[in-house]
Amino acid sequence: MKGFCLIILGVLAILGSVEGDLEMGFYGSSCPKAEKIVQDYVNQHVPNAPSLAAALIRMHFHDCFVRGCDGSVLLNFTSASGNQTEKVAVPNQTVRGFDFIDRLKSLLEAECPGIVSCADIVALAARDSIVLTGGPSWRVPTGRRDGLMSNASEALAQIPAPFDNITILTQKFANKSLDLKDLVLLSGAHTIGISHCPSFTNRLYNFTGVGDRDPTLDSEYADNLRSRKCRIQNDTTTIVEMDPGSRKTFDLSYYALLLKRRGLFESDSALTRNSNTLTFINQLLQGSIANFYTEFGLSMEKMGQIGVKTGTTGEIRRNCAVVNS
Ligand code: HEM
Repeated sequence: MKGFCLIILGVLAILGSVEGDLEMGFYGSSCPKAEKIVQDYVNQHVPNAPSLAAALIRMHFHDCFVRGCDGSVLLNFTSASGNQTEKVAVPNQTVRGFDFIDRLKSLLEAECPGIVSCADIVALAARDSIVLTGGPSWRVPTGRRDGLMSNASEALAQIPAPFDNITILTQKFANKSLDLKDLVLLSGAHTIGISHCPSFTNRLYNFTGVGDRDPTLDSEYADNLRSRKCRIQNDTTTIVEMDPGSRKTFDLSYYALLLKRRGLFESDSALTRNSNTLTFINQLLQGSIANFYTEFGLSMEKMGQIGVKTGTTGEIRRNCAVVNS
């Protein structure tokens, strides 16, 4: 009887570690050092370039929102799309960190050729680099396989735009089985990182086409952005902190700024004008940072499972930028 109970417990433990089609420690026997190699490399390099943490979590988001978390954002070319892959679509033109993922992939190929997917490397590196910024950790079950397709027009249509209103944002998230709570929590990643002017300068220079401003943006902040940062609407080189003064710290200040009408994008600001999202923002601000971290981590785990390819679908790419020939 005792042995039987132990077997049941063992089975439950195994089932408990399977998340959707992914599995905690998927590479445990096929490439036991895989997760450690990613973590060590991140620990070694991200402290010298802390802005990479923002780049990598954004890359993971953009990967997951198009064809699922399958490394499609990394492709330079596919036979179906030529070089019009997701990478060239406007939302991805400002995604950074591709060479970092390539270097990680080389290390993993040297350790266990053909075993660790590019999609998993992105998911693990995103988590490990955020931890290094002092931010939250979350579970990253693995076993994602890499996709064979990548298409610029899909990226343009499916990745939320900074100009989207709450209806469109809600729809784009719902299309990926994410709800309003996930939308608010995951937008919280804008507590770190930078933007380029064209993502928001319509709010400063020409909001409705008559040379006006977005009235929902704090006017002092708008003045500052115009006079000190984006002096012309189409400035493509200047970078602007999304959470000024705290862009390297993963904290709640992004939400506090939203309430001061200082969210940089229309999509940030939109979160304060829907009663459900506003209530949730207030709850986050009244709660502890630990609570935010827990909730954020759960939403990241959910995001990391969007449309994953497992089993025999897709492939394990040898080079993250091209499908295997
Ligand atoms: C809700 C819809 C979202 C919209 C409309 C949006 C839009 C943007 C835009 C326009 C930028 C700046 C691009 C540039 O001009 O350089 C940006 C940056 C960033 N986004 Fe989002 N985003 C959204 C959600 C998310 C999510 C879910 C995450 C991660 C979980 C995320 C993480 C980031 C990070 C970390 C940066 C800074 C990147 C860097 O420093 O290179 N965003 N986002």
